[in-house]
Amino acid sequence: MTMVFLAWLGLLFFFLITSPFNSSSALPSSHFPSHLPLCHPHESSALLHFKNSLSIINYTTYFSDCANPNSTVYWNMSRDCCTWSGVTCDEVSGHVVRLDLGCSGLLGIIHSNNSLFLLTHLQTLILSHNWFYDSKLSPEFGRFSSMIHLDLSYSGFTGQLPLEFSYLSSLVTLDLSYTDLRLETSSLKRIVANLTSLKELRLSDVNMSFASPNSFMNLSTSLTSLDLSESGLTGEFPENIFHLPRLQKLDLSYNRNLSGSFPQYNWSSQLRNLNLSGTGFLIDLPYLTQTLKSLNTLFLGSCNFRGSYPALLGNLTQITSLDLSYNNFSGQIPWSFLNLEKLIHLGLADNNFIDLEEDGVAEQAPAQEGGEGQISKQRKTESHGKFGRVSR
Ligand SMILES: *[C@@H]1O[C@H](CO)[C@@H](O)[C@H](O)[C@H]1NC(C)=O
Ligand SMILES: *[C@@H]1O[C@H](CO)[C@@H](O)[C@H](O)[C@H]1NC(C)=O
Ligand SMILES: *[C@@H]1O[C@H](CO)[C@@H](O)[C@H](O)[C@H]1NC(C)=O
Ligand SMILES: *[C@@H]1O[C@H](CO)[C@@H](O)[C@H](O)[C@H]1NC(C)=O
Ligand SMILES: *[C@@H]1O[C@H](CO)[C@@H](O)[C@H](O)[C@H]1NC(C)=O
Ligand SMILES: *[C@@H]1O[C@H](CO)[C@@H](O)[C@H](O)[C@H]1NC(C)=O
Ligand SMILES: *[C@@H]1O[C@H](CO)[C@@H](O)[C@H](O)[C@H]1NC(C)=O
Ligand SMILES: *[C@@H]1O[C@H](CO)[C@@H](O)[C@H](O)[C@H]1NC(C)=O
Ligand SMILES: *[C@@H]1O[C@H](CO)[C@@H](O)[C@H](O)[C@H]1NC(C)=O
Ligand SMILES: *[C@@H]1O[C@H](CO)[C@@H](O)[C@H](O)[C@H]1NC(C)=O
Ligand SMILES: *[C@@H]1O[C@H](CO)[C@@H](O)[C@H](O)[C@H]1NC(C)=O
Ligand SMILES: *[C@@H]1O[C@H](CO)[C@@H](O)[C@H](O)[C@H]1NC(C)=O
Repeated sequence: MTMVFLAWLGLLFFFLITSPFNSSSALPSSHFPSHLPLCHPHESSALLHFKNSLSIINYTTYFSDCANPNSTVYWNMSRDCCTWSGVTCDEVSGHVVRLDLGCSGLLGIIHSNNSLFLLTHLQTLILSHNWFYDSKLSPEFGRFSSMIHLDLSYSGFTGQLPLEFSYLSSLVTLDLSYTDLRLETSSLKRIVANLTSLKELRLSDVNMSFASPNSFMNLSTSLTSLDLSESGLTGEFPENIFHLPRLQKLDLSYNRNLSGSFPQYNWSSQLRNLNLSGTGFLIDLPYLTQTLKSLNTLFLGSCNFRGSYPALLGNLTQITSLDLSYNNFSGQIPWSFLNLEKLIHLGLADNNFIDLEEDGVAEQAPAQEGGEGQISKQRKTESHGKFGRVSR
């Protein structure tokens, strides 16, 4: 009798510990989204203070390419900040790790005392296409030591890039293009030396007229994309950038006083997009086309050429976009050498080719987005007749 009772008790105990009712409360909270850690109160309040420090404008008036609605308008303290638009929290720690407020119509000045800088767990911060006019880029940005992706392009930040940017040693992508920032040799050298994980660096239109191009010499070997166009760089560009093993895209265009030459060995084997339009590079086209046969886009408008040229274009079998405008080339257009199967954009304006319509530009419609250099864009607006079609 006792045995039966004990066995029954054991069975009951077994039932209790395996019962679905009992165990449900012990399940890890990840099974139930509502059990996710709530947004840390100091972070939601930092976000709200950040929002309240700025105004919100009808951004479509300023940035016609913005698709996101003005998301911060809907931030509401009565809901978990991890659910706010543009805000992403870490699933385990609950910290705000991503803030994407690109194209949000934000207007105002971000001072050093802004609560934005309290969000020290941020790994991604996108503030592009807003208007922080006259905001000096605060040294407080140096607090974001976990930052991996930082995009402040088209945002109106101004002044010197603070030295503290070199503390962001985990950065993989950095985009400061089309701001009113200035970068000088000392900051640049520290950034290059300390940001050893960088893959994409965009500094287009950042004023670097007082920075030595040599400062880029020791850029991370992880680099895949470098955009230094229209930045006022002056002097000799370091040749070893062309050795970076993973470099796919290099844009140095419209730095008239930037000179340089190509290496004789160990080219970046991944290089697919090269833009040297409007630079002082002395370009040996035969050498270039024989060496970089896998190029997809090559922009060499308004360049200094050496040697004879177009016959060798035949080696560029992967080319989709080629710009040779403003170069005073003469003779026959090298149709037979061009791979017309793949070519989408061809810019030949302002040369002395003999069998070209007076337009000077041949183009196979539709042109790829971003496929035209600045000079041919100007030409396009000057006269509609400028663009013909590739004739076969
Ligand atoms: C914002 O600007 C666009 C373009 O000017 C206009 O079409 C739209 O109605 C404006 N929206 C508001 C809410 O003012
Ligand atoms: C921005 O938000 C306001 C308020 O919700 C809304 O009326 C307006 O249409 C939004 N603007 C744009 C450009 O979407
Ligand atoms: C915030 O959310 C609460 C509850 O959903 C709602 O009653 C309130 O109107 C919201 N406030 C704003 C400013 O949207
Ligand atoms: C932040 O700093 C600015 C400029 O120094 C000042 O005008 C503003 O009052 C400060 N804001 C707060 C909340 O302390
Ligand atoms: C480089 O980054 C590390 C880690 O963020 C930082 O401690 C150090 O001060 C930085 N060095 C320079 C020269 O900025
Ligand atoms: C770049 O910065 C220098 C130094 O402040 C200034 O003199 C120059 O005008 C700036 N260049 C441009 C294009 O803004
Ligand atoms: C690049 O690195 C080398 C070796 O570490 C160093 O000697 C040189 O000064 C660095 N150059 C620049 C411009 O930082
Ligand atoms: C290039 O250098 C020359 C001579 O130093 C200077 O006059 C000119 O303004 C510079 N051009 C640009 C675009 O920086
Ligand atoms: C080219 O690269 C290879 C492999 O990285 C290296 O062994 C070789 O020394 C380099 N050649 C020169 C001339 O630097
Ligand atoms: C391609 O380049 C080679 C040299 O590497 C040259 O001999 C050949 O003529 C070029 N081919 C064409 C079609 O231009
Ligand atoms: C362009 O080429 C023609 C004919 O070869 C030459 O007379 C002219 O000086 C050249 N123009 C420039 C700007 O090099
Ligand atoms: C440089 O050329 C690339 C294509 O190689 C193009 O996408 C880019 O817009 C050009 N840069 C400028 C500043 O025009």
